[in-house]
Amino acid sequence: MNETNLPRRDLVIAAGGLGLTALAGANLAFAQPAKAGEGGAILKSLKASVGANREYVLPPLPYAPNALEPHIDAETMTLHHDKHHAAYVKGANDALGKLAEIRAGKVDAGQVTDWSEKLAFNVSGHILHAFFWANLGPKSGEPTGELAKDLAADFGSVEAFKTHFSAAAAQVQGNGWAILAWEPISSRLIVLQVRNHQINAAWSSVPILVLDVWEHAYYLKYRNVRADYVKAFWNVVNWHAVGEWYETMKGHTSQVK
Ligand SMILES: [Fe+2]
Repeated sequence: MNETNLPRRDLVIAAGGLGLTALAGANLAFAQPAKAGEGGAILKSLKASVGANREYVLPPLPYAPNALEPHIDAETMTLHHDKHHAAYVKGANDALGKLAEIRAGKVDAGQVTDWSEKLAFNVSGHILHAFFWANLGPKSGEPTGELAKDLAADFGSVEAFKTHFSAAAAQVQGNGWAILAWEPISSRLIVLQVRNHQINAAWSSVPILVLDVWEHAYYLKYRNVRADYVKAFWNVVNWHAVGEWYETMKGHTSQVK
């Protein structure tokens, strides 16, 4: 990609960090960089996930650890954010550092495959967690506006979407995520079922709503009954934040089509 075509940093964070680098590389234009106030709580959390020198950093939880009780308990939130998410941040920075050492000839180039896998795993884990905290909140409600309209158009109804998403979450083999994603090439919302943090991702797709179904996300409270955790999740979706993010992302990628 020609660097003179790089969009502003805000949009790089909003789009490139979530899988749209492939689109940028194909010289497909975005509409406009995010304006102040656009993107809402999700963009704010993503921007807080990158430091001044582009190193990855742990963003703060946007609410108190007990804010989602009784659906998600404070101990789980604290461990999940302070230990698990922090480990992905460290892993992402370590992988970048090790790949730089390989380029500098300080580390055997035979390790490229191993560190590339670690880079994909940890960057994906970091970004998805930063997204997850912000798409949760103590007040849920229901989708409204453009998002509600498009969910109905692409899934039949909001309820049909929830059923599809819940099944994807419940059926992840081992650790993974259910992800509602905007696929800008076809202007369509899709549900992805991702293993670990990166397996079964679809290029070009931008997360809109994500649910972590790794055991560390629910085991203290729900033990082995993941389905109950998935059911409780719908009580703590911050639909306002999700709707704001969706309208911003859809607007920025509309010229792709
Ligand atoms: Fe997690």
